[in-house]
Amino acid sequence: MKNILSIFFLAVLLFIPLLAFGAESEETQVYHAPKTVEISGEFTDNPFNQIINGQKNTVKLTFDNKGESNYTIETVTGQLFNKDNPSEIYRNLTAYKYSVAAPSMDHVEVNYNFYAEFPPQELGLNIYVYFSDENAKKFRGVGYNDTVTVVDPEVSFFDLQLIFMYLILIGFFGGMGYLIFQSFFGGAKTKKGKKRIVKTEDNNSESDKFDESWLPEQHLKSQTTRSSARIRKKNEAKKE
Ligand SMILES: *[C@@H]1O[C@H](CO)[C@@H](O)[C@H](O)[C@H]1NC(C)=O
Ligand SMILES: *[C@@H]1O[C@H](CO)[C@@H](O)[C@H](O)[C@H]1NC(C)=O
Ligand SMILES: *[C@@H]1O[C@H](CO)[C@@H](O)[C@H](O)[C@H]1NC(C)=O
Repeated sequence: MKNILSIFFLAVLLFIPLLAFGAESEETQVYHAPKTVEISGEFTDNPFNQIINGQKNTVKLTFDNKGESNYTIETVTGQLFNKDNPSEIYRNLTAYKYSVAAPSMDHVEVNYNFYAEFPPQELGLNIYVYFSDENAKKFRGVGYNDTVTVVDPEVSFFDLQLIFMYLILIGFFGGMGYLIFQSFFGGAKTKKGKKRIVKTEDNNSESDKFDESWLPEQHLKSQTTRSSARIRKKNEAKKE
């Protein structure tokens, strides 16, 4: 009895992966796009098929449905690969979901955006368009299959403006930093200066000397005459 049970469990265990595999393969079965569907792709604003490092690259995909079936574009994804060895995939591009209807005898356009960062070189690019019919049968069409050139972005006038703005900002914050530095460390200096001022106030004759050196001679004379007049008055008062 035990043996029969264990054999039964063994059989179940053996069949589970087969069942799972069968279900999965049925679910993910993707067919080649029918000949009645023509998909083409081209870079927008980019006649030389260039991929610009760090910038958004846009491929406009045209889905031409010349068949009887109504389709729905579901997902678009892509691959960058070694152009001399397509099986060597350098990068799987981000897959985007669309859910765009492509009815019979109609053609629709969708944009696919991707970013890349590679040393400048020539690469192979494939873009795949996944779509389904009304019975949920899945298809995969090729929207792009060509060589592209990876280039670095040029330093444009816009970038120069940015650099200039950064320089101004650096100058501004540098100035702010200097002022803050002054208010902390330069503050001690001004205190010392105040002390010195106090000293000079104590010693009036010294400060007078410094001030007079700035004044034109005429002014000096009038002042001395005035002071001498004052002194004379004082003297007169004393005499009285
Ligand atoms: C496609 O859609 C149109 C309009 O909704 C419908 O008339 C036509 O029967 C559909 N074609 C198929 C093959 O289901
Ligand atoms: C790209 O995806 C495939 C599976 O779809 C995987 O086998 C391959 O390793 C991936 N390559 C890179 C470079 O991520
Ligand atoms: C891309 O085109 C080449 C020939 O130009 C072909 O060998 C290859 O199978 C195509 N790739 C895809 C994904 O259709």
